[in-house]
Amino acid sequence: MLVFDRVGSAQQWCIDQKKAGKSIGLVPTMGYLHEGHLALVEQARKQCDTVVVSIFVNPIQFGAGEDFDTYPRDLSRDQALLEEKRVDALFAPSISEMYPAGYHTFVEVGGEITAKLCGASRPGHFKGVATVVSKLFNICLPDKAYFGQKDAQQAMVIEKMVRELNFPIEIVRVPIVREADGLAKSSRNVYLDAEQRKQALVLSKALAEAHSRIKQGERDVARLKEIMRAVIAASPQANIDYVEIYDAADLSDVEQVDRNVLIALAVKIGSTRLIDNLLVEV
Ligand code: PAJ
Repeated sequence: MLVFDRVGSAQQWCIDQKKAGKSIGLVPTMGYLHEGHLALVEQARKQCDTVVVSIFVNPIQFGAGEDFDTYPRDLSRDQALLEEKRVDALFAPSISEMYPAGYHTFVEVGGEITAKLCGASRPGHFKGVATVVSKLFNICLPDKAYFGQKDAQQAMVIEKMVRELNFPIEIVRVPIVREADGLAKSSRNVYLDAEQRKQALVLSKALAEAHSRIKQGERDVARLKEIMRAVIAASPQANIDYVEIYDAADLSDVEQVDRNVLIALAVKIGSTRLIDNLLVEV
């Protein structure tokens, strides 16, 4: 596996891959890789001639007081995992390589899609994500780029950006990979102590409860949100950031589950903010 830490050399190599007729699949990550990330890599490996993974803990998508400084990092372990998955190239730039002194250009996706959920609780977050992903697209020149359903809103934001800025790139969404007990895999799960790890199950439990009520015929969104809040309230260390149900296509408001909906929640377990979601197709 080739490892690039400079924009220029990574971009030149990708240009050469394209000239040689190779299709490129890009998997953008912030590293500290787990099976969720690796599911994206496997999908890319199946669908593309050349697989590029990026690892960059992007400072501009973290708000003040968030976990940028403590975000887990282990590049040599990540590198070994990517070698095993037969990745062709890793792009792992420094902050100053991506944002040199005097950097002032940003990409902002507007509309309801960024105003709700994590867009509301983390102002500026999606501007940071859209900016770094645009840069990665221009550096790595992918035909396809892979995003996890774990961050469903992020995938929607990127799809809208690709549509509206005419990036000639196909966005591929990959289903959520979970631990055996239901907890969605996340680099942030390492922050949880043993007790918090148990309490973190309220996220997937609340989603499962809502899903089973929908299957039993409950359609009222306000009632379903109440049921999920009650599941979470049973866990003393859990603090709800949001519990929402929106139209899965555009995050517009719904009162009844009469179309495909995204059930999304963000919950703090101690000081660790976790997110999870479920796409319900009716
Ligand atoms: P990161 O949190 O490292 O996630 C990288 C990709 O892995 C994202 O597309 C995310 O949705 C996916 N992913 C994470 N956990 C997953 C799981 N349990 N199952 C399936 N997919 C999972 O998301 C980011 O980084 C950043 O915002 C980034 C897009 C790299 C821009 O900085």
